[in-house]
Amino acid sequence: MLILGIESSCDETGVALVASASTGVPVLLAHALHSQIEMHQAYGGVVPELASRDHIRRVLPLTDQVLADAGRALAEVDVVAYTRGPGLAGALLVGAGVACALGAALDRPVLGVHHLEGHLLSPFLSADPPEFPFVALLVSGGHTQLMRVDGVGRYAILGETIDDAAGEAFDKSAKLMGLGYPGGPALSRLAGQGNPAAFKLPRPLLHSGDLDFSFAGLKTAVLTQAKKLGDQLNDPGSTAKADLAASTQAAIVEVLLKKSLAALKSTGLKRLVVAGGVGANRELRDQLNAACAKLGVRVHYPELHLCTDNGAMIAMAAAMRLQAGVQETSRAYAFDVKPRWPLDALNPV
Ligand code: KG4
Ligand code: ZN
Repeated sequence: MLILGIESSCDETGVALVASASTGVPVLLAHALHSQIEMHQAYGGVVPELASRDHIRRVLPLTDQVLADAGRALAEVDVVAYTRGPGLAGALLVGAGVACALGAALDRPVLGVHHLEGHLLSPFLSADPPEFPFVALLVSGGHTQLMRVDGVGRYAILGETIDDAAGEAFDKSAKLMGLGYPGGPALSRLAGQGNPAAFKLPRPLLHSGDLDFSFAGLKTAVLTQAKKLGDQLNDPGSTAKADLAASTQAAIVEVLLKKSLAALKSTGLKRLVVAGGVGANRELRDQLNAACAKLGVRVHYPELHLCTDNGAMIAMAAAMRLQAGVQETSRAYAFDVKPRWPLDALNPV
């Protein structure tokens, strides 16, 4: 079965083609991506209306490219999958509208996918896919959650952020250090030249005894520190900015690491999956790898280029849901998107 996947929830247009049989891990045949980062950079963040318009421009050329790369024709596609939510409503509507139009024109069914389930299952696209059950640390721009995952569509949330997400903490801290958008990669690059112990920043909820997170206070502490540093922050002869970046990253990484270890301990599971954009962070990977190696825990990540948004994870999630029999395709072509959509709403009732 050939599944075309379309991602358009935020600032990347992604399209992919996955082949799936009744058993075995589905295989990625081709994928293509257009990032809108350059377009939004001038505004310091994502402008939803511009995002939607750009998805409209990109989605069909990317689809042609994917089909050409895979050496397949559009008529061979069996199911058209798209990101149904969560995300920006207008942006989601583009992918959903195109998927439903393609489905109706080809007389093929469609399937709406949860964006976070796409991230969660993206390590199955790697050469070393995980096995169920596992603990998942889902760290994206809008979400920070620890989950127990027992199978496709069987997600128990163990803890989550009560305010900002980890990606937001990276992005907002980077913005107030003048590092632009998206801040995570820029902040982590600069952090490589700084001293992570230079500034004492809070580790929110580190000892709360539960698996919840809070990052809003950290951003305030970074702002206070940046104000204290004043001109020094932008003095090319000073390491202050790199030190602040390194200290911020160290605070975020320590909280994510300790809470992930606590989740592994409380569930007794020996496998950890890290997914979402922040999962691309080198320091987080290094620290998780070192700590998990000591505990005999296997850590799985998506391939680096599939950590952030892409179409491959959407086609893959659709393939795995169909294979597991937890969702049926639809010929209703009613593209009702869900800008807000909790992941555990997918669980069977
Ligand atoms: O998963 P994603 O592409 O989009 C959402 O679904 O939100 O995640 C984007 C987030 C942004 O906050 C971005 O700054 C962060 O992932 N990010 C990183 C790195 N690469 C992306 N944060 C820290 N270090 C990185 N290397
Ligand atoms: Zn995402």
